[in-house]
Amino acid sequence: GGLATYDPGFVNTASCRSSVTFIDGDKGILEYRGYPIEQLAEQSNYLEVAYLLVNGKLPNKAEYEAWAHDVTYHTFVHENLKTFMQGFRYDAHPMGMLAASVGALSTFYPESRNIFDEESRALQIRRLIAKMPTLGAFAFRHAQGKPYVYPDNELSYTANFLSMLFKMSEPKYAADDRLVRALEILFILHADHEQNASTNAVRAIGSTQVDPYTAVAGGIGALYGPLHGGANEAVLKMLRRIGSVDNVPSFIEGVKNGDERLMGFGHRVYKNYDPRAKIIKKAADDVFEVTGINPLLKIAVELEKIALEDEYFVSRKLYPNVDFYSGLIYEALEFPPEMFTVLFAIPRTSGWLAQWLEMLGDTDQKIARPKQIYTGERGVQYVPMGDR
Ligand code: CMC
Repeated sequence: GGLATYDPGFVNTASCRSSVTFIDGDKGILEYRGYPIEQLAEQSNYLEVAYLLVNGKLPNKAEYEAWAHDVTYHTFVHENLKTFMQGFRYDAHPMGMLAASVGALSTFYPESRNIFDEESRALQIRRLIAKMPTLGAFAFRHAQGKPYVYPDNELSYTANFLSMLFKMSEPKYAADDRLVRALEILFILHADHEQNASTNAVRAIGSTQVDPYTAVAGGIGALYGPLHGGANEAVLKMLRRIGSVDNVPSFIEGVKNGDERLMGFGHRVYKNYDPRAKIIKKAADDVFEVTGINPLLKIAVELEKIALEDEYFVSRKLYPNVDFYSGLIYEALEFPPEMFTVLFAIPRTSGWLAQWLEMLGDTDQKIARPKQIYTGERGVQYVPMGDR
């Protein structure tokens, strides 16, 4: 009963109460559990931030060590899951492979369906955070036709991921520390962003009380879409189209004439600046120091320079957003664009799980089941097919 409020896209509807992430778009503030993102990016690491998101407080030394040990312990996946992934076509999109294999994980851990068992819940959370880099790296190697690389549990979370991605036959692969740190920062910046589309999807699916693997697989599906996780891929495609630094001024003129948008600029929430972009720009510079600047990156630097001084962009408060620089870092690290969203899904897993856990603990939470405004016909009489 009662009239429903029409709010397509839920732009003005709070779907939940949450104490995980705070955003003030006008002031350019992003906080996880009250901690400013700048402090976390500078002083913390991804695993500690994941603990903070999931548990609501920073770990002490013993808590952190236990957590890091548990997550590391669970990095391997069942051999049959590897076989499952090997069954994909050689050109399968890694995000499709990731969504499918995370969904498949639920069949390996059927006890995960018992979502009200606190101990089991804690175990599944560790497993998921641990196995995402492994599955993401397998998907990457698959597309390259290279053998999958098993986790190396001597390494940190991010160093292990880089090793599973890039290790060749030689036994001693070691990623440059500056690259490891840059990836760590990217992971911290992407860990949560309150009620974005994929988090909303995880909550909606989770509200049916399904297991967390299935809920996160749905979140990966939402993230796959170009309007959500795909913007950094669009930045790279734009740079390829521009082709050379000489073409930048005419491209900017085109943007100002409304021909197309400057991808990686502007944000729905952040109208002052994207606090993540400031942090990531510094990380990008560190990465370029190691990798050098290729012609595509030169175009990006020129675009940024012109746009930041141009009246059109300044008056509309259009600043580079997080995707502008993350795309450039991934390009410098020689990731193919199809991998960019996988690099987003891995760290976002801790945010999804923190929000899932919070939802389960909220006694007000009901199954996510919005209303609609019905616009169709009523009481239409069935006509036999031959008479239509
Ligand atoms: N290039 C050129 N003009 C732009 C751009 C842009 N990237 N973004 C906004 N504008 C202009 C727009 O044309 C409008 O001008 P006018 O007032 O003359 O009509 C004005 O700025 C306001 O734009 P809007 O569309 O009302 O702003 P919005 O809040 O609806 O859009 C946005 C936000 C992110 C969709 C948009 O800025 C955009 O399309 N950016 C490019 C795509 C992109 O980088 N997306 C990633 C966002 S960060 C993702 C994440 O955090 O998950």
